[in-house]
Amino acid sequence: MEAKLKDLADRRGRITAGGGPKRVAAQHDKGKMTARERIEAFLDEGTFTEIDAFVEHRATELGMDAVEAPGEGVVIGYGTVSGRLVYLFAQDFTVIGGSLGEMHAAKICKAMDMAMKVGCPCIGINDSGGARIQEGVDALYGYGNIFYRNTLASGVIPQISVIMGPCAGGAVYSPALTDFTVMVDKTSNMFITGPQVIKAVTGEDVTAEALGGAQVHSEISGCASLMYADERATIEGVKRLLSYLPSNNIEDAPLAPTSDDVARACPDLAGIIPDSPNKPYDIRDVIAKIFDDGDYFEIQPLYAKNIVTCFARLGGRSVGVIANQPKVMAGVLDINASDKASRFIRFCDSFNIPLVTLADTAGYLPGVGQEHGGVIRHGAKLLYAYSEATVPKLTVIVRKDYGGAYIAMCSKHLGADQVLAWPSAEIAVMGPDGAANIIFKKEIDEAADPAQARKDKIQEYKDSFANPYKAAARGYVDDVIDPAHSRARLASALTMLLGKRESRPAKKHGNTPV
Ligand code: HXC
Repeated sequence: MEAKLKDLADRRGRITAGGGPKRVAAQHDKGKMTARERIEAFLDEGTFTEIDAFVEHRATELGMDAVEAPGEGVVIGYGTVSGRLVYLFAQDFTVIGGSLGEMHAAKICKAMDMAMKVGCPCIGINDSGGARIQEGVDALYGYGNIFYRNTLASGVIPQISVIMGPCAGGAVYSPALTDFTVMVDKTSNMFITGPQVIKAVTGEDVTAEALGGAQVHSEISGCASLMYADERATIEGVKRLLSYLPSNNIEDAPLAPTSDDVARACPDLAGIIPDSPNKPYDIRDVIAKIFDDGDYFEIQPLYAKNIVTCFARLGGRSVGVIANQPKVMAGVLDINASDKASRFIRFCDSFNIPLVTLADTAGYLPGVGQEHGGVIRHGAKLLYAYSEATVPKLTVIVRKDYGGAYIAMCSKHLGADQVLAWPSAEIAVMGPDGAANIIFKKEIDEAADPAQARKDKIQEYKDSFANPYKAAARGYVDDVIDPAHSRARLASALTMLLGKRESRPAKKHGNTPV
């Protein structure tokens, strides 16, 4: 037995050494940790249990029969984060560039299958040269199996992709199918076709960083949910994200104890909103005042900044907050804001996280670019996502809420369970200037002093329509409240809705606008 135990230890030692000291040093030189170091940093100390360490590839072509690939270039297993179970896989770039062959993919699929079976999040740490070229179609088969499972697991367990190196070619579609993609600045990238292929096909000169670095995907493409300066910060960010999420779709998110009284008044809120409806302010100041301990966690903070999507807590319960941002483009809804918000809403609904919407928007962004870009179908996603959601839906109309955007920002008509409005709310078909110019056009044109007449008519419209009371008179607004009571009222509504049950017509699945 002793000899056998020594043999086992030797074998395990060779596997845990990965691609060997030279390749590990090269990894460190790039500011990157190894797969095992990342797992260690991610999980609670001493909780990692590795499986499938002894898996080997069975490729023989192009010299692969002579290639040893410790661990098949990916480390998989389970452990805990803040005491909660997760499954994870981490590609090992020191072993054949973390490239994905048949058995590498089989390991990843096993981690995903187990995560689904036990109902825990699956975290994938990506650092790979993509499909292992020597394995040809077997590698493609492997990717296909992963994509299929990503889709099956969607809405069942949270899936988080962490990009800590290259993620090229079809490999990017696994992160795209998962719920969140988190990138490390400067050392990670994602693209379907790399700089050389682009140069050959289109003649464009671009670096990997400028093509698909963390900054690009966070600000321009919207493919990244979050980015951090280095790997340690990224790991801490993912852990924080997990703290807001349930382990699966039949559980609730964990309660986070807080000493912040749910009945706490927020006297400063009224002062944040400028008197003029056209003046900008930062909606994040409102979010910080309302939710527990002034704390919130933004998703896609650098993308479509005209809408804020974040997790926060109310009385220790996780909520998803969707808020127009008057500080950026007057908080209008456009293609990107609609995409960002609807994906967030669908995630929250899948995982039993109540929605709190803060509305202050002048409407959808006008423009040829928006229309030609398909704002109709993109905007429809927001209507669809809110209508489809059956979690508790609470809305606070803070200031402007006009037209289609009023409907879209979780109005009563899309199934909001409680709509509260501040006295500063203006709910109408359109803003006073535009409305007065249309409905009083004749009177204005025929007046002795058209400029004065226009001013008077705008004021007349403002006095009668630019308030929350017309909507409250119909019951579309449940109550008009002092902003100071927002936290207490939202918390009370959330508690009232704990037993909410709502069903939808039986169907295979809806046909979400895309
Ligand atoms: C086999 C690979 C590999 C791959 C890297 N390696 N990518 N082996 N298949 N896809 C190997 C290298 O040969 C090298 O082996 C080791 O990994 C480290 O790679 P380097 O090139 O030395 O590292 P670096 O300079 O850091 O460059 C990393 C890289 C580059 C940018 C990722 O390796 C690269 O461009 N790789 C190919 C990327 C790619 O085009 N992949 C296919 C995408 S198509 P040695 O032994 O020399 O150390 C695809 C289709 C999937 O994925 C479709 C699914 C639907």
